[in-house]
Amino acid sequence: MTLRLYDDLAHLWPIISPPEEYLVEAQEWLDVIRSRLDIGPGAGRDLPTLLELGCGGGHLMSHLTEHFITEAVDISPAMLEISRELNPQTLHHLGDMRSVRLGRAFDVVAIHDAVNYMTTEGDLRAAIATAAEHLNPGGVALFAPDCIRETFDGPRVVEWTREAEDRSVTFIEYMAKPQPGASTVESVFIFIIDRDGQVQVEMDRHVGGLFPTATWMGLLAEAGLDGEYVRTNAYEGGFGGNLFVGRK
Ligand SMILES: C[S@@+](CC[C@H](N)C(=O)[O-])C[C@H]1O[C@@H](n2cnc3c(N)ncnc32)[C@H](O)[C@@H]1O
Repeated sequence: MTLRLYDDLAHLWPIISPPEEYLVEAQEWLDVIRSRLDIGPGAGRDLPTLLELGCGGGHLMSHLTEHFITEAVDISPAMLEISRELNPQTLHHLGDMRSVRLGRAFDVVAIHDAVNYMTTEGDLRAAIATAAEHLNPGGVALFAPDCIRETFDGPRVVEWTREAEDRSVTFIEYMAKPQPGASTVESVFIFIIDRDGQVQVEMDRHVGGLFPTATWMGLLAEAGLDGEYVRTNAYEGGFGGNLFVGRK
């Protein structure tokens, strides 16, 4: 299924979720990384290395590039293009977080909200394995699902409006009540694009993963990572605030 937000509607991403809104979260990540990373910068480089899987528009990444030598992977060519423009110093790769193998290891491997797209335990296991395999010993892996099973209480609606030069975009997300025992939650996205009173409406449907903490911790251990759950600040609409940390 093509996700329109990462394809023909990708140009809306920097408007509805601009890079500056990721600053606080990036600072929290830096604190978590610095207090856990057990390796100094390697010989011949001044900064530690960081790989982000599912970088999207690279908005979070844009606050990390001054602290790390960065590389990024995404499955969407349109989103990679946005991230390349924002983060020209980052090496970008087209790939799937479940299977990509870059053939080298990093001090930090992160999967931000893109980990939501892992909708089965098998997919989540594969993505965590990708992160673990790209991690140096002593390195830190970070995973930031929007929701975890214990605390998600759908149905939930969030909405906000952001102004761009030539239009305002209102974003509405409806997250359905998960089926009992299901590992997924369905979201409907509505975009209302208003150019001086000329209104265009677009819709998209996404399915996200919803796993209990025990599943996360079990999969981190299976991948050889020492797992930990860290509560961070939630962002717009009460999403986020979940950070699973794995140390190798
Ligand atoms: C919400 S966006 C990430 C936004 C990002 N956190 C930022 O700062 O801009 C989710 C991204 O996950 C990517 N994605 C979804 N499934 C993927 C997969 N299997 N492998 C790699 N990327 C994937 C999508 O293409 C999309 O760009």
